Amino acid sequence: MKVPFIDLQRAHQPIKRALLDAFEKTIEHGGYCLGPDVTAFETAFAKEQGVSRCVGVGSGTEALHLIACAMEIGPGDEVIIPSFTFIASAWFAQYVGARIVFADIDPVSYTLDPVALEALITDKTKAIVVTHLFGQAAALNVKLPALRSKTERRQELGRRYLDGIRHSDIELPQPLEWGRSVYHMFTIQHPERDRLRTYLADNGIGADIVYPHPLHRQPCFNFLGYEEGDFPVSERLANRCLSLPIVPELADEEIEYVIETLNAF
Ligand SMILES: Cc1ncc(COP(=O)(O)O)c(C=O)c1O
Repeated sequence: MKVPFIDLQRAHQPIKRALLDAFEKTIEHGGYCLGPDVTAFETAFAKEQGVSRCVGVGSGTEALHLIACAMEIGPGDEVIIPSFTFIASAWFAQYVGARIVFADIDPVSYTLDPVALEALITDKTKAIVVTHLFGQAAALNVKLPALRSKTERRQELGRRYLDGIRHSDIELPQPLEWGRSVYHMFTIQHPERDRLRTYLADNGIGADIVYPHPLHRQPCFNFLGYEEGDFPVSERLANRCLSLPIVPELADEEIEYVIETLNAF
């Protein structure tokens, strides 16, 4: 059996007609930028999020950059950022000339460690980036109506993994007391992560490393002067993490197959 890590074809198939109709309308009204589609998305997304306004932009990086500009963050300011996240979480601070201050992550939630964070706050701290990386959902216009059911399916798949994976060397993500994950990622840990990933691939299962390098070890941030060992929780996770397939389109048999294959490792 083949279980892909991500399968956009499967995700798009049920909404293909709606997507093509939407593209056709966009091509026909000929709006070069902004236009009714963006307005409709902004209105629908604001409503879904329970906020009064929403501004559509071209990328996550751009959104963070614009927020930094709006907050007038600049030279002399410090921005605290978790050391285990996507690199765009830090780029924006550099774009506006602020000083990046990395903080380690919590070993259970894999997100910013509040204790580490507190120790880093100074009177120059202008912003704190709290990346909800391991439980965040995003959506576009056509996908908005299905957001809730897809999230519920991810949570169901997450429960199946938590109940089904029984392996002494595999560390499972712990459900948190203070919140519920949408399982944007289902990230396990194993001391021989690369061997496990190859074994899964040999059995037709796609698993990915999100992320292999903590930000303070990225060469582009060498100038900040951080060293190996500065953020041990991030470094340990980067060396051991493996994200399993958890897209909502996966069938029960596929998840069971992944569980059986993992338990037989
Ligand atoms: C934490 C985080 N922020 C932002 C992004 C996306 O940034 P962009 O849309 O600029 O590629 C990603 C994409 O993987 C991400 O994981």
